[in-house]
Amino acid sequence: MLFMSTGNSPYVARDLAHVWHPCTQMKDHEQLPPIPIRRGQGVWLEDYAGRRYLDAISSWWVNLFGHANPRISAAVRAQLEQLEQVILAGFTHEPVIELSEALVAAAPSGLSRCFYADNGSSAVEVAVKMSFHYWRNVGRTAKHRFITLSNSYHGETLGALAVGNVELYKEIYRPLLMDVITVPSPDCFERAAGEPWAEHSRRKFAHMETALARHAHETAAVIVEPLVQCAAGMRMYDPVYLQLLRAACDRYDVHLIADEIAVGFGRTGTLFACEQAGIRPDFMCLSKGLTGGYLPLSAVLTTEPVYAAFYDEYVRLNAFLHSHSFTGNPLACAAARASLRIFREDNILERNRALAARMGARARELEDHPHVAEVRQRGMIVAIELVRDKAKREPYPWQERRGLVVYRHGLERGVLLRPVGNVVYFMPPYVIAPEEIDLMVDVARDGIERAVCD
Ligand SMILES: Cc1ncc(COP(=O)(O)O)c(C=O)c1O
Repeated sequence: MLFMSTGNSPYVARDLAHVWHPCTQMKDHEQLPPIPIRRGQGVWLEDYAGRRYLDAISSWWVNLFGHANPRISAAVRAQLEQLEQVILAGFTHEPVIELSEALVAAAPSGLSRCFYADNGSSAVEVAVKMSFHYWRNVGRTAKHRFITLSNSYHGETLGALAVGNVELYKEIYRPLLMDVITVPSPDCFERAAGEPWAEHSRRKFAHMETALARHAHETAAVIVEPLVQCAAGMRMYDPVYLQLLRAACDRYDVHLIADEIAVGFGRTGTLFACEQAGIRPDFMCLSKGLTGGYLPLSAVLTTEPVYAAFYDEYVRLNAFLHSHSFTGNPLACAAARASLRIFREDNILERNRALAARMGARARELEDHPHVAEVRQRGMIVAIELVRDKAKREPYPWQERRGLVVYRHGLERGVLLRPVGNVVYFMPPYVIAPEEIDLMVDVARDGIERAVCD
């Protein structure tokens, strides 16, 4: 069986005896066992049989500067000698103070308060609860609902799942979820032939305007993934939508939550995607690349007015009492500090422009393929949308699992690609070399050929 070479097989057997893997139909492992990884170095992962895989998806969009990055590893090691963990209620530590200073300096101006959690979904929970609680604290108790976009994804915990909109993950749990207002996404894959992205996104904003006009009195916040809806298949839209949304949220007195968990830290070409629209959200959720992909950590940045609405005498019970045991873990904060330092010292955003240009140019070679409907790009994210019928833009039925063929092919050829449905995408660590970009795209192209051949 594929990848069941001698080095790997003992681990596979032990794994399958006890480990229940995330986002996985475990029966699939009868055909394709999990791959035990022994070590990582730069963009490469290596299994126990000595096979190497180029990590073209940054290990679920988290890794920024390569596996076993010497500078981040050194920072974590140094912190490990000092303090591994301490309660953040009533206590504090240098890594969390320094990280907060660095995040506030890097974020859109006015986001001056940092609240920590330990994964992306929890950050979304924090932002949702904080927005709702803010309106209660200022006496606007009717404002308890949330507006979200179709195709959005904000995580798997119940609040995050409720404000997301990927049916595959959400449908079964619907009886457990709060009711939200869902507005059609500005997704530019759906634009009319020849229609510019900005025009399409602007036109789609009419739905949001209508929803806000109708529901603002009962709405706490609108939540969006700025510029790229990653889990829905790297669906992209124009920054003008965010500008219109910011202005409308101000007009209607509704918070704007920017979920930059996937798109933050340079993925879209700027440090934060919101920068491309020149806007400041009321809440900005960060995770994944926050620690360079080293350790679980998340942060919600917000404004002084929000903070002030919770600042009160204890007995008035206005405090935000949300907590997680590992909130602001010192090791994770040390990794995050080191990662932000690399951005600054190595001029990463500038260097990424050349990598993004090469990825885009190579991927666009597939534009004329009879089963490629679109090649789209925003910064360091490139996606190739496969379709059964190009003229009608008719997708392959999801049951055919064409993406899985690309995944298997990638593994055989030493590239970790993990298509989302019919969308093959690249979101590699920023230490990828130009020749490695070529390898990644060549393997994806051959995998696509195999996936669409019947
Ligand atoms: C935009 C977005 N929000 C939230 C999350 C959830 O983060 P986590 O998996 O760390 O809970 C994800 C994860 O992919 C994401 O892409």
